[in-house]
Amino acid sequence: EEKSRTLVTPADAGAALAQEISACRRCPLHGPATQAVCGEGPLDAEIMLIGEQPGDREDLAGRPFIGPAGQVLDEGLSQAGLARDRLYLTNAVKHFKYEPRGKRRLHKRPDAGEVRHCRWWLEKEFELIRPKIVVALGGTAYQALTGETKPMEEIRSMPIPVDEGRMLFVTVHPAYILRIPEPDKQARERQRFHEDLQAVVRLH
Ligand code: URA
Repeated sequence: EEKSRTLVTPADAGAALAQEISACRRCPLHGPATQAVCGEGPLDAEIMLIGEQPGDREDLAGRPFIGPAGQVLDEGLSQAGLARDRLYLTNAVKHFKYEPRGKRRLHKRPDAGEVRHCRWWLEKEFELIRPKIVVALGGTAYQALTGETKPMEEIRSMPIPVDEGRMLFVTVHPAYILRIPEPDKQARERQRFHEDLQAVVRLH
């Protein structure tokens, strides 16, 4: 009987997973990246947010959503009354994919194969966290979760029941908002993003 007792605490399991992710060589993206960026947040979080991949700032710091897209996300979370430190935040792909351009590193979208490879880690995060609500930030996260690509307008802003009584909720990626050049349109999209996060709170 002694042996059947759980000897590994969830905190250990979280640390072990982070270590495994950091050592990942399953695809070539680890080569040029500074480090893997693992998920962050309490292991008993009920809501899990999934982005695309770390950006330049995240790659250097080793933490998700701390750059410009992270600021848009933080603003959305706080207006919806969602405390960031109660959520589990992660990315579909754990290494930064980029193209060197002089001294800059330009973000490159991960392809379907890279997303599929990295799904291995997303599954492990699901097993560990067992979230009730999963928020896909953008099409890449949706693709990682479902294997499908769909127009954003077909899938966003409504709860989609998935396995184990879990709800999936899709919204845009915050970096998409930052890339909108027209100030009016950007403001409108920011507002819609905020409304989506408010809808997540109502689901909860
Ligand atoms: N964009 C993402 O999708 N994830 C991050 O962690 C940062 C920017």
